[in-house]
Amino acid sequence: MLRLTDVHCHIIPGVDDGAKDLETARRMLRREYRDGVRRIIVTPHYRKNMFETSMETIRKQFGRLQAAAKEVGEDLQIELGCEYHTHGEMAKCLAAGERPTMAGSSYVLVEFSSRHSFRVIWNQVCSLQLEGFWPIIAHIERYPCLVENQDYVRQLSDQGVMIQINAGSILGEEGFSVKWFCRKLMKEDLIDLIGSDAHDLKDRKPNLGACAAYVEKKMGRKYARKIFVTNPGRIRAD
Ligand SMILES: [Fe+2]
Repeated sequence: MLRLTDVHCHIIPGVDDGAKDLETARRMLRREYRDGVRRIIVTPHYRKNMFETSMETIRKQFGRLQAAAKEVGEDLQIELGCEYHTHGEMAKCLAAGERPTMAGSSYVLVEFSSRHSFRVIWNQVCSLQLEGFWPIIAHIERYPCLVENQDYVRQLSDQGVMIQINAGSILGEEGFSVKWFCRKLMKEDLIDLIGSDAHDLKDRKPNLGACAAYVEKKMGRKYARKIFVTNPGRIRAD
């Protein structure tokens, strides 16, 4: 079994709309571990006027999660990230260290709204890169401007942006057309990362194991290794 990395999930208890308490978080970790996940970058939401939990609280809760992870498995590694909802000051805020990058690296997980145009996405990506950050676009299958024009996805990829999609979308949980889009991206080699985006144990549960098995079956072992092991391995502290 591959030693998987989950690069997008909401398991820190009580800091966003993810795990509601430590017990839920513990059970989510157990599920990740059982699925073969050995490294998790937890990515609590940061979104102005919606999710603005202080870094003090996030770090405190992250510490509790790390302790819980040790009990789940000695070899289960937990690192801190952030799912950052785009706004004009994002690059500045990250440069000032107000919110964390992914696992202390130069990579940042950025989320857009479905109404955002490609121009907005492109401008944000460029402004982050000018500040020395490497954007990972969260669940790219959710943005109509990209779904409707695959050339835009390629343009982002050529620009060095990492493309992330959600495991559930690949597995068909978001409907056939989303699944079809993801499949197309996979075949075109336009996906860099797959995350669970797990929030709970019910509707949005950890599902990376099932997804990795599916991807391996459809695309082969080498491809699955690239998506779940090699590419996440690039996200390391500089
Ligand atoms: Fe998320």
